[in-house]
Amino acid sequence: MKLLVIGSGGREHALAWKLAQSPRVQKVYVAPGNGGTATETGLENTVLSSFPELINFAKKEQIHLTVVGPEAPLAEGIVDAFREAGLAIFGPTRAAAQLEASKDFAKQFMARHGLPTAKHASFTRAQDARAYVEKQGAPVVVKADGLAAGKGVVVAASVAEAMSAIDRMMLENSLGAAGARVVIEEFLEGEEASFIVLSDGAHALPLATSQDHKRLRDGDRGPNTGGMGAYSPAPVVTPGVHARVMREIIQPAISGMAKDGTPYVGFLYAGLMIDRASNPQTLEFNCRLGDPETQPIMLRLKSDLLGLLEHALAGTLEHAEAEWDRRAALGVVLAAAGYPEAPRKGDEIRGLPKPAEDCRVFHAGTRLDGGRLLASGGRVLCVTALGDSLKLARRRAYAAAESIRFEGMQMRADIGHRALKK
Ligand SMILES: Nc1ncnc2c1ncn2[C@@H]1O[C@H](COP(=O)(O)OP(=O)(O)OP(=O)(O)O)[C@@H](O)[C@H]1O
Ligand SMILES: [Mg+2]
Repeated sequence: MKLLVIGSGGREHALAWKLAQSPRVQKVYVAPGNGGTATETGLENTVLSSFPELINFAKKEQIHLTVVGPEAPLAEGIVDAFREAGLAIFGPTRAAAQLEASKDFAKQFMARHGLPTAKHASFTRAQDARAYVEKQGAPVVVKADGLAAGKGVVVAASVAEAMSAIDRMMLENSLGAAGARVVIEEFLEGEEASFIVLSDGAHALPLATSQDHKRLRDGDRGPNTGGMGAYSPAPVVTPGVHARVMREIIQPAISGMAKDGTPYVGFLYAGLMIDRASNPQTLEFNCRLGDPETQPIMLRLKSDLLGLLEHALAGTLEHAEAEWDRRAALGVVLAAAGYPEAPRKGDEIRGLPKPAEDCRVFHAGTRLDGGRLLASGGRVLCVTALGDSLKLARRRAYAAAESIRFEGMQMRADIGHRALKK
């Protein structure tokens, strides 16, 4: 059978690669894909992007199942459109994707269903937001309500910083419509982790835990990025924390969505903040897998991913089991010069290591130009490796990254540092 993966990042390369391992799968198309999905065995890129084009393609090619990587098409209703056309697709509907697409929706939802999360207030007028911040003081967190590709959150250390974030979002429209409403949140302290599950609308199957590194530079300094590396498992999610997250966050979220008449089917990503006493709080929901967390997670997944997605679509996830490689996995992102503000494109990439059982390079911002592989986006590659310990996975990933060269390449040297300190 043939599958279709929507998206072009490292997450989609890892997803498509994993789906192609299924013995039932002949070919996985990726729309639009990247230089890695163009050359990977079993994968093929297609340039289509509009929903009608994708739907026609899925019909013509008799695509068994479409899997959506990024949030934007989900928030725009790609799942609703495919379903209306009678096509199988994995992901939340437009209504369910509001959990990510509107932070105000997510906060109201969490309050309604009793999920632990930071105290908040929402505003559509800058003067009201400013008055609230004046009263609350700093540190405080200012979040654009809508999708802002990772640029919509300001953790403000001072009142002045929070005020300027409010002005930029609400008065100068720096994020367009996404910033017309802002959510102002209490600042939470602790350690973050990514907790991603498969949901069938009623049951959740947790994937392996992970943690990413958002800042550009070592020691978690520098500007925020889409993610400079990730590893799995995240030791901060102890078995006790895991059980509490399932009971206090994931299950109430899934039953809350069902009760509200918008059952959630798809990958559900809870961004967690875990305090010193191991209490988990919900920072946010995403309606899709994380990038780069997906790359180490897929490298550790031993079960047939297609089988798990079919269970989720059939509503039978309670009978599904995911088997994980006992080894740890760690992925290091190689980013372009100038990332994240102004990534430089067009540099030739050389020295990619051969894929091995315990090490793969997932592509993100790459494209093929004749025989050459060129950088074409901010995050270019994610070198991902397995090891008997996180330390060994890290050593393996960095050793493989060593041979890769392109002009101005940026790479953090300390991915995994928090877990390795434990
Ligand atoms: N209440 C909070 N207290 C402390 N830090 C926070 C809080 N909310 C968010 N943050 C920090 O800001 C980051 C981004 O916040 P959030 O996850 O809500 O935004 P996002 O733009 O949707 O992120 P992503 O791109 O991961 O989806 C978090 O990973 C966390 O580091
Ligand atoms: Mg988010």
